Amino acid sequence: MMDCYGREINYLRVSVTDRCNLRCQYCMPAEGIQDSGHERILTFEQIIRLVKLAAECGVRKVRFTGGEPLVRKDIVKLIEAVSSMPGMQDVSLTTNGICFADMADDLKRAGLVRVNFSLDSLHADRFRYITRLGNISDVWRSIEKALAIGMMPVKINTVVMKGVNDDEILDFARLAAEMPVHVRFIEFMPVGDLPFYQEERLVNMDEVKRTIKSSYQLLNGLAGRGNGPAKVYQIAGGKGTIGFISAMSNHFCGDCNRIRLTADGRLRSCLFDKREINVKAAMDRGTGDDRLAIMIRQAIREKPDRHHMEKGWGADNSRKMYQIGG
Ligand code: GTP
Ligand code: 5AD
Ligand code: SF4
Repeated sequence: MMDCYGREINYLRVSVTDRCNLRCQYCMPAEGIQDSGHERILTFEQIIRLVKLAAECGVRKVRFTGGEPLVRKDIVKLIEAVSSMPGMQDVSLTTNGICFADMADDLKRAGLVRVNFSLDSLHADRFRYITRLGNISDVWRSIEKALAIGMMPVKINTVVMKGVNDDEILDFARLAAEMPVHVRFIEFMPVGDLPFYQEERLVNMDEVKRTIKSSYQLLNGLAGRGNGPAKVYQIAGGKGTIGFISAMSNHFCGDCNRIRLTADGRLRSCLFDKREINVKAAMDRGTGDDRLAIMIRQAIREKPDRHHMEKGWGADNSRKMYQIGG
């Protein structure tokens, strides 16, 4: 279905949990989140019902996010159910990779064909600092497993932060040269009111690209932006690709094709727009499919033309990434 700016909305990002086995500095408070029970979170049946209705409104691609989607017990069943929905073209997952390796075979059997991993440092101690809890060896094991079982593509998301990991840009580029992975550098976005956000940490993707071009030849035009947020380049002689997600310096809102469903059941039409439609409350009080479909269409129609994240540094922007799903 088209939104009111003529963009075709065919992609739904579903956050299946706001829990996570990590505590990334840019996503969660150090103490984690208050556990207020399962009732707040969409049930399996509610997610399936909403995805089916969204599919009837034109959604053909679904990405499961979190928190960490793999800490949700029924994630394999969710992927299986959504993959087998008629008309569904793409079911994918964004994970921190901590427990992917152990679940990979089941996920593949359920219909998962591709996966995106978040990985912001290649150094074990720095990875631990950023995630507060993670062991990088778990993520490596998962990336290797994903390649071994033929996930295609395997993407690596790296949020570049000045003074934190911006000295690793060429190391990540080397990874894309040597392995068949798609490394995507991401501009740091001010989502959530966390103390870690400082505008000075933002690194412009033009700068990242310049650094890479000092050592690698990027080939233009082989892959465009496609349906995703990344501008992607092949590396001369390399096995993988390099992408740039310039959400802050050169937003891609004009090509946006997505809406979001938060773990607690709110439709959110833009990552950075506070307006949400509470479909969980509607389902909990017995609302029928017709009315729910109207709510989904409303979320699509009312999608804003663009974000205004540049105004967001330090602003009170109460929903954090772990609740929205990135
Ligand atoms: P692909 O379908 O594989 O291209 O996935 P994706 O890049 O859309 O999803 P992923 O979960 O891997 O997100 C990568 C980065 O893009 C994260 O930092 C997301 O927060 C960011 N991102 C995804 N969608 C949007 C969006 O609509 N707007 C903005 N500003 N950032 C987004
Ligand atoms: N800015 C940019 N990307 C972010 N992500 C989480 N928080 C931010 C942020 N503030 C990324 C994660 C993950 C994806 C879903 O979103 O690294 O790969
Ligand atoms: Fe967990 Fe991802 Fe948030 Fe890190 S960024 S705390 S891995 S949800």
